Amino acid sequence: MFTEISMIGLFDSGYGGLTVLKPLLEKLPQYDYIYLGDNARAPYGSRTVETVKKYSEQAIEYLFAHGAALVLVACNTATATSIRHLQQKYLRDPNINDKKILGVVKPLVEFAVQNTRCNRVSIVGTKNTILSNSYDIEIKNLNSNIEVFSQSCPLLVPFIEENWHKKPEAKSILKKYLRQLKSKNTDVMILGCTHYPLMHRDFVRYMGKKVKVPHPGEVVADSLVDYLERHPEIEKLLSQNGKREYLTTDCADRFKEFGNQNLSLGIDTVKKVQL
Ligand code: DGL
Repeated sequence: MFTEISMIGLFDSGYGGLTVLKPLLEKLPQYDYIYLGDNARAPYGSRTVETVKKYSEQAIEYLFAHGAALVLVACNTATATSIRHLQQKYLRDPNINDKKILGVVKPLVEFAVQNTRCNRVSIVGTKNTILSNSYDIEIKNLNSNIEVFSQSCPLLVPFIEENWHKKPEAKSILKKYLRQLKSKNTDVMILGCTHYPLMHRDFVRYMGKKVKVPHPGEVVADSLVDYLERHPEIEKLLSQNGKREYLTTDCADRFKEFGNQNLSLGIDTVKKVQL
């Protein structure tokens, strides 16, 4: 019998969004998921905003055309620079009615605002994410007393995409990036890049015990659980067969190895696609 599939789609420039997928699979295992890593064109973080918009549109269109009913933009760079543009563009598209696009910045902003006691928050992300000021703006929209300190860490994503993030070179670069932020005495740090949780332990170690560094994927997944509870009209569109599809624009074998080695995802098959 033919079952109609309406999956939850996620995309990222590469492997980073898998850190969001993992807790989602744990919290909401019943749904069908399609993950697209645009590894061939990673990193997005230092490209022009126009390019990030174009790549994000291509990813979203691909996911909608291949069975996604809801797309979670599991990339801070794409969310920070383009989420409003993407939501407006596809909301108006009559071929895409009923479908939804969500981003990752808002849940992390809410976490920061709810958890800082000293009203000082630090944000790390790609160049584009930091330049967009979106965390700063959204945090201040919720609480104008909060001071936000930001640092871009452009070398981390290439290290992670190369699976080199456990090497001492990656740790020493991270330490350099965090030196300034550490002196700002913040009590919450947001990893505003979905790749960075792969170095979560290092961030926690360098920032020290007094700084709360949540796992962004957990925060985003909790907020999706809450969103689906509040929107039964969307929840009922999603098919529930526990299906997982993994797609990459680059090497399928490397993708599988990365996901299984670093995130124990138990990936069986990865398909190489062109956007
Ligand atoms: N992981 C993505 C992010 O959250 C993109 C990183 C990149 O491609 O530069 O920003």
